[in-house]
Amino acid sequence: MQTRKLGRGVAIVGAGMSKFGAFPEKSSRDLFVEAFSAMRNSVDKSLDPDGIEALYVGNFSSELFEGQGHIAPIIADWAGLTPCPATRVEGACASGGVALRQGIIAIASGLYDVVLVGGVEKMTDLPIECVTDTLAAAGDVLYEIPAGFTFPGFYAAMATAYMARYGAAPEALMHVGIKNHENGALNDKAHFNARIADIMARKKARAEEKGQPIPDWADEMAFLHDDQANPVIAWPLRLFDCSPVSDGAAAVLLVAEEHARSFTDDPIYVIGSGQASDRALHDRADLTTIGAARLASRQAYDMAGIAPADVRLAEVHDCFTIAEIIASEDLGFFPSGQGYKAAEEGATARDGPRPINTSGGLKAKGHPVGASGVAQVVEIWKQMRGSAGARQVAGDVNLALTHNVGATGQTCVVHIYERR
Ligand code: COA
Repeated sequence: MQTRKLGRGVAIVGAGMSKFGAFPEKSSRDLFVEAFSAMRNSVDKSLDPDGIEALYVGNFSSELFEGQGHIAPIIADWAGLTPCPATRVEGACASGGVALRQGIIAIASGLYDVVLVGGVEKMTDLPIECVTDTLAAAGDVLYEIPAGFTFPGFYAAMATAYMARYGAAPEALMHVGIKNHENGALNDKAHFNARIADIMARKKARAEEKGQPIPDWADEMAFLHDDQANPVIAWPLRLFDCSPVSDGAAAVLLVAEEHARSFTDDPIYVIGSGQASDRALHDRADLTTIGAARLASRQAYDMAGIAPADVRLAEVHDCFTIAEIIASEDLGFFPSGQGYKAAEEGATARDGPRPINTSGGLKAKGHPVGASGVAQVVEIWKQMRGSAGARQVAGDVNLALTHNVGATGQTCVVHIYERR
């Protein structure tokens, strides 16, 4: 593999997101404006919106979710950004990460100095069966969807293969869900801003109010094993193994390195970028790993000149709990077959040696698919600058990573960030 370098340095000088959740009264445009305002407020010095030279926005399917195509100029107009060129970027659930990479390339090429990268998806207007069909369009509609696959089904196949090969049990997956809800409870922008223990308490209170029998789960594991409270969606994946269907947006401001200090004294630098594609799931020899994630991360590590062990913190694409475990291996944090043990032992917890998804991840923070890859950067921005509040990890975060996956890994984008 040839080592690639950016043509010039790129820095992040602002980052913000809307609240994630279900918002019947809000459209993509409203969500994007909310994220844009949060990003603007995060710029330490001043930002003149007229100085933004281009917008790249990640969005999977505004036409199917909302009946609105051509979303990029529409939201640019709503945010007062016209006439700056606005381009939509689509890479399924990696749309946001791919948009980020396009923004980086645009600056590194010398074409622009100041680029806004956004991500947005408004998913909850449709009934769940239509959401499932819309998401399934990111799979292979010739071979996979006619065979009955949905996204929970795809990842269930990967989970089954992983469990069979390495002897992992469903409890390992449950540990990922418990951890990500613990983190999401500390994130006021999260779709599920609650620990699983809080959700259990709420359900007990609701049963009592209605005069129904009060469930007596001994602990979170007992709750997660309860077929009524945590039904199987596609075995072995249950409700709390799935990311939710969410509305939300995120935005980050990229500038050429030499301009960074006019926006902030504390920029975050992008030092590695990688992207790769893989064959559709049905054509892969091994379902326990995602080749594109391995390749994209090797490219990013190589460009950054660092090793996986140097990364202090990562936001990875946990669309399903098994995806976080597989990612933790593909990114080189743990050897193949050891990621599930790391999850069980708490190695990926906020106070563990290798924190993963301190934001709550897609599982608890939510997964408005086009926005997720950009929202990952918002968390990295906060953690690296020491402004993540109650969920801030201890010590300096000088190197961090984001990993964003489209579909079952047909698209994968990895970025590495440095605080100097
Ligand atoms: N995790 C935990 N709880 C969830 C949840 C999730 N992912 N999704 C919904 N819930 C909860 C709701 O809060 C609600 O709780 P309440 O009864 O206490 O109020 C309850 O489950 C029912 O919610 P509802 O919205 O009716 O769920 P649903 O059946 O419509 O959707 C899934 C559940 C799992 C089908 C849906 O979240 C899903 O499809 N997730 C995967 C999305 C996906 O594939 N994304 C792309 C990844 S590549």
